[in-house]
Amino acid sequence: MLLSMFEPLNAINTNKMSITNESELVGMKKVSEVVGITLKMMREYAKVGMTTKELDEYGGDILKSYGAKSAPNETYGFPGCTCISINQEVAHGIPSDIKVLKEGDLINIDVSAELNGFWSDNGGSFVLGKDIHNHQPLVDASKEILKKAIYKIKGGVKISDVGQLVESEAKKYGFKVIKNLAGHGVGRSLHESPENILNYRVRTNRERFRKNTTVAIETFIATKSNVAVELNDGWTLVGNRGGYVTQHEHTILITDNEPVILTDANEIWK
Ligand code: CO
Ligand code: CO
Repeated sequence: MLLSMFEPLNAINTNKMSITNESELVGMKKVSEVVGITLKMMREYAKVGMTTKELDEYGGDILKSYGAKSAPNETYGFPGCTCISINQEVAHGIPSDIKVLKEGDLINIDVSAELNGFWSDNGGSFVLGKDIHNHQPLVDASKEILKKAIYKIKGGVKISDVGQLVESEAKKYGFKVIKNLAGHGVGRSLHESPENILNYRVRTNRERFRKNTTVAIETFIATKSNVAVELNDGWTLVGNRGGYVTQHEHTILITDNEPVILTDANEIWK
C-alpha cells in the first residue's frame, strides 16, 4: 500500500486483526489460498501479445469462481480486479486493453480479495519470457529479501528491525528500497494496523509485531528510485528517478516461532 501521507486517513482500519479462534484462522487461510491461487494462475496465463485487461479479467473470473471480491475495487474503487504494473510502473497499474505484454517485460501482479469477511493480499514480479532486459537479478533479490524478512518476524520483533534488514539486504545487492510504500496489517479489511511496515528503519518506531495477528509483508526493491510518485491517472505509481522496481508480497500469521505463510499457494518462491 501507499503510505498514509497520500491516503485518506479513513482508508485505514485501526482494528488489529487478531486470530482468536479456529474459525478466524480457517477464514484467513481460505481467502489467502484463493488470492494465492489467483496470482499463480495469472502468472502462468500471462503471454506475449496479451493485454493487461485480458489478464485481469482472467484473474477476476478466478476470484469470482470462489465467491471472492477484488479488494482494491471494493475498498478504493480501483478500475480493475487486480493491479498489473508493467516495466516502469511500480504499483497500482490499471488493467488496460491498450497495454500489450511483450517479451522480456517486467510484470508485477498484485491480487487482494475479500471472502466471507476475511481479507488477504499477495503479489509478485516476474519477467515474461526471455529476460532480454536483464531484470531477473532484481526479481531474484526481491524474492530472497522477502524470505529473509518474513522469517525474521515473530511476536515481539520490532517492525523497524525488519525494515532495517530489508534495506541493508537491498544495499548488499546494489539496490535501493522505495520509502513510501509499505506492508500492512490485513484481515478484517485490506489495510489495518500496523499501517506502515516499511522497508527501512524508522528510529522513532518502537512498534512490535504481535503474535496471532495477520500482516501483509511486501518488498519494494528498486534499481534507481526511492520514492513512488503517482501518475495523472490517479492510480499508477512510478519511480521518482526512473529505473525498475520489484515487489513480492505474502500474507502471514505471526506466531512465537516461524510465521505461517498463508498465501504460499502463490508459489512466488518456487
Ligand atoms: Co499489500
Ligand atoms: Co498487495
